[in-house]
Amino acid sequence: MEKFKPFVTLLGVLTSACLQAQSPADDAKMNAFIDGLMSRMTLEEKIGQLNLLNPNERRSGPTVQAQIQLGQVGGIFNEANPTGVRKLQSAAVDHSRLGIPLLFGFDVIHGFKTIFPIPLALSCTWDPAVIEQSARLAATEATAAGVNWTFGPMVDICRDPRWGRISEGAGEDAYMGAQMARAMVRGFQGDDLSRSNALLACVKHFALYGAVEAGREYNAVDMSPRRMYQYYLPPYQAAVDAGVGSVMSSFNDINGVPSTANHWLLTEVLRNQWGFKGFVVTDSSAMNSLTAWGLGDLSTAAALALKAGVDSDMGDRIYSKHLPGLVASGKVAEPMINEACRRILEAKYKLGLFADPYHGCSEERARREIFTPENRHFARQLAEQSLVLLKDDDRLLPLKKSGVIALIGPLADDQYDLLGCCQGAGERRYNVTVEAGFSNVVGSAVTVLRAKGANLTDDSALVATLRGFGDYVPVDGRSPQRMLEEAVAVAKRADVVVAVLGETSSMSGEASSRSQIGLPHCQEDLLQALVKTGKPVALVLMNGRPLTLVWEAAHCGAILETWFAGTETGDAIADVLFGNYNPSGKLTTTFPRDVGQIPLYYNHENTGFPYQGNSANKWLSRYLDMPNSPLYPFGFGLSYTEFSYSDIRLSQTNLTGNAALLASVDVTNTGRREGGETVQLYLSQPAASVARSVEDLKGFQKVSLLPGQTKEVTFRITTDDLKFYNNQLDYTWEPGEFIIRIGGSSSQLQSATVRWNR
Ligand code: NOJ
Repeated sequence: MEKFKPFVTLLGVLTSACLQAQSPADDAKMNAFIDGLMSRMTLEEKIGQLNLLNPNERRSGPTVQAQIQLGQVGGIFNEANPTGVRKLQSAAVDHSRLGIPLLFGFDVIHGFKTIFPIPLALSCTWDPAVIEQSARLAATEATAAGVNWTFGPMVDICRDPRWGRISEGAGEDAYMGAQMARAMVRGFQGDDLSRSNALLACVKHFALYGAVEAGREYNAVDMSPRRMYQYYLPPYQAAVDAGVGSVMSSFNDINGVPSTANHWLLTEVLRNQWGFKGFVVTDSSAMNSLTAWGLGDLSTAAALALKAGVDSDMGDRIYSKHLPGLVASGKVAEPMINEACRRILEAKYKLGLFADPYHGCSEERARREIFTPENRHFARQLAEQSLVLLKDDDRLLPLKKSGVIALIGPLADDQYDLLGCCQGAGERRYNVTVEAGFSNVVGSAVTVLRAKGANLTDDSALVATLRGFGDYVPVDGRSPQRMLEEAVAVAKRADVVVAVLGETSSMSGEASSRSQIGLPHCQEDLLQALVKTGKPVALVLMNGRPLTLVWEAAHCGAILETWFAGTETGDAIADVLFGNYNPSGKLTTTFPRDVGQIPLYYNHENTGFPYQGNSANKWLSRYLDMPNSPLYPFGFGLSYTEFSYSDIRLSQTNLTGNAALLASVDVTNTGRREGGETVQLYLSQPAASVARSVEDLKGFQKVSLLPGQTKEVTFRITTDDLKFYNNQLDYTWEPGEFIIRIGGSSSQLQSATVRWNR
């Protein structure tokens, strides 16, 4: 067997020299190395580099291991333990002709084994630094287990909570999405990809996947270019600017052309406009889906995808099957394959895999670095920060650490659902339930009475569907009436009721769109019965999307949105409920009153006939049967203390050219507890060459304030903040009047006006 010589001879040089292939000198070294390697590769081996396989997939024919040894595989996905990784990597480096190492990809989305809150929840911290840290810890854990590439971050903007994957992203806003994208890429990749704890990132799903029509999974997207550039593309671009190493094409089409075959998207925008230098991978089976999209047979799909700019084929084996024939028939030019192969080899080089194909993974490192007490502690703190207090009338919360509490609901002792979507290598048996959290946090000081009260859902067709998909949905065999009566009896014996209700984790995430986004009916019935007891009811919600909660908001004393908060859920929830932590999370996605309002998002256009609550006028943009406003707006979230805002002070009101404007407010903690507030800056331009949104988020700062304390918060605004995409798709600003808005939620803002001239 002809061994790969450069691997051996260059080893010493590579360990130090390939660390950062950023400088021109490093690039030159990398290029020389890859030139040498590729000059020795056959066409089949080059196509092999484009082939990404799942070793756990059952199928006939040669094993994945055998294919690796034949040089037919470039990467593996869904193998995430050091022994398995080492075995397959050894097949590549010790037993294939050229010894080229493999990439090992895995969905590390919100943690590896220590699972943090779902990304939607993470974004509610409004804290890029802690989000970056969460990605850093996830990268350390994942790489210890042998994973060197994550399929994250997921940055799809979503304005439609029916779409189940809203749970995996940072919500509805482009500015927020871009902050989170950058933080996650930095966290995953670190500043040096060759370090053994650096994880190659993959921004997904490129592009516009969160805008699928009617919120239905895998659906079509038809959107004006201006809307794309203004509101949907910025987070992907931010990831590219932050140096993300790879991009995943999405399942949807864009104006008739599926992303995976979309040359405009994958080459003109991504590479030519944004300067992306890494490689593009399909989503799993996205190449296969091109046939169903109506683009032709699989051979046509392979040619279209390659020409569009797809380098790696996830799981479909379509490139390996069809590219040799397409080259032979002249339908695909070999240099295109060379280019794709080179991009994959470059990623491997930058990861340092030619020097250490195992990227420092070992059983021993895994034992030492995965699921450590420190990581779990961090997960608990992060979970606390991600919870959003939606309502707290009459200060029902925080709960007293004494007396009798009825802890009711199917999610109160549920250990299964807490990780939400994309559970990585998380193990449910370690999850801290709410019931356990109560006991950990208040011990015997509080008498906790328990009742389940209802199943997660009584919709037997839904249970059958979810179970058919392999999800675990426990069903208590007792009649709904019996469970309800037991819960009511328990509630009557308590001082206060804490009802832990929501969705199963399988009701959000991939392939989990819902047409109705309220609580499942049996849980609604339970809640109504509990409220009817006259006891104060605090509703603790677990869900992967905004829910419609009009009745709940009108009848529960308090509502705490906890999303799916990860491994340490129970402790974090108990910390917040009992006041050890003062909640500070703010929504990054609008909660509609009703599905009929969807899509509902804060930065909508004004329209020509805006409705501002003036119901006497018929001819306005409104519904007859419902307000336009959401139940809970973007940026909203309460605290156990209160904050007041002064008027805005401006450094000037008439600006010219590239001047900078300073806008300040004094924020005061007017309540009795220390608390954190996220101060938000929005901008609007009432008159421009295109209809602009009513306001757009342009900045935010977190402050922590003692009772009675005041802090000045200042935002520096430049012409960059005034820019938008005009109808020619130029990113530019136009002189005129601008309204500066600052406050604690998109719907509660102070405002001041400036004129900005050219
Ligand atoms: C399909 C999902 O859409 C994508 O997000 C994920 O990374 C891949 N499967 C691999 O698991």
